[in-house]
Amino acid sequence: MKYQAIKGVKDILPKDIGKWHFLEKTAKELFETFCYYEIRVPVFEKTTVFSRSIGEDTDIVEKEMYTFKDKGDESITLRPEGTASIARAFVEHQMYNPASVVKLYYSGPMFRYERPQSGRFRQFYQIGVEAFGSEDPSIDAEVIFILMELLRRVGIPSLELNLNNIGCTACRPIYRDKLQKYFNSRLNALCKNCNQRNVKNPLRILDCKNKGCIEIVNNAPTIDQFRCEKCKVNFDQVQNLLNKLDTPFKINLRLVRGLDYYSRTAFEVLASGLGAQNAVAGGGRYDGLVKEFGGPQTPAVGFAMGVERIISLVEHQGKFTFKPNVFIVSLGDIAKEAAFQLLNKLRMDAIPSDWSSNQGSLKSQMRKADRSGADFTLIIGENELKNEKLILRNMQTSQQEEIPLKNIVESVKSRIKS
Ligand code: HAM
Repeated sequence: MKYQAIKGVKDILPKDIGKWHFLEKTAKELFETFCYYEIRVPVFEKTTVFSRSIGEDTDIVEKEMYTFKDKGDESITLRPEGTASIARAFVEHQMYNPASVVKLYYSGPMFRYERPQSGRFRQFYQIGVEAFGSEDPSIDAEVIFILMELLRRVGIPSLELNLNNIGCTACRPIYRDKLQKYFNSRLNALCKNCNQRNVKNPLRILDCKNKGCIEIVNNAPTIDQFRCEKCKVNFDQVQNLLNKLDTPFKINLRLVRGLDYYSRTAFEVLASGLGAQNAVAGGGRYDGLVKEFGGPQTPAVGFAMGVERIISLVEHQGKFTFKPNVFIVSLGDIAKEAAFQLLNKLRMDAIPSDWSSNQGSLKSQMRKADRSGADFTLIIGENELKNEKLILRNMQTSQQEEIPLKNIVESVKSRIKS
């Protein structure tokens, strides 16, 4: 029987992990500079955590959740995203503090039963931030700035930031009704899905990729005609602050996002080279979610980025690929024993080192040393041991020198540093 990973999930192999480490390290440094603290939440929750927050009528909840009954007959769901779990944790641990904004970051696998294709997986990773406790537009601008700065630092600066303000509980229902009326008179031209969407959530039609629907959507009323005064002012302020931070954006009045918890600011970052799955990150404000989970009214804003999609755009892997400093080559049993001991000494001195425990010929060991990418190779034969001098080869210059066995760790260390 041939075992293979399940469709839509993938292994991340050591040869590719350098980019992941690079992105994770860069993100952690940046987030901590902005005083965001890491939170880790479980990969599964009670199903209602997601269904109530993301919205019963969204694609995620309707079609994409990995939901099952556990042995206690409880309905469990593998998390399709992080925001709902974090809001649940925020309320459960009473993290609300009126005096300050609680700023969190996270990363980890998410699960959605979507049709797998390039850039779309059933298990994928997200890195994100969530800031709870401030309605101030500066926090929207901060969150968006962090996202764009992270993309810049990993070497993908020219992405398109799409920005919208999708209204609040006061003005969005008015827009929703107007949209519904507009679509009601054009149902024949809309796809089957959009006919259903129009009953429960007409805003979702704005997201449809169907050609016929796009034409109808192009002439549909837009949210800017319906925003209340507070939302208008808020949107102006967010834009103004983004300009102050030199963060370019494009206003996209049709941007709605596929999750129901958003209010006011909504944004997405698109990459042109990624085909249909071109959203590398998305986020926005969700001022009602904490209350939904039984906490006090607490405004919040955040984003999540799709790690696989970002990684596919990150060019420079080489620098971040792990490789040893030293590879030890030994000839003969006595030398092998000495090599084993020395290897451990180097490692205990925090010098990443390796060898071939299968030994083999000098030629084959040298080939392995080369393949390992090590900076230096230490060669130990019985003669070298007798003379108490080992051969150190600089793998970049191919220069060799004899160095005394005494204080060998120190000698190697000084050469690695220089
Ligand atoms: P989302 O737009 O559903 O938002 O997902 C964020 C990002 O995750 C997407 O832009 C995309 O890059 C990536 N992504 C989504 N589905 C897949 C998939 N099947 N395969 C690969 N990548 C995927 C959220 O999840 C919100 N929780 C974001 C947020 C945080 N809003 C506020 N705070």
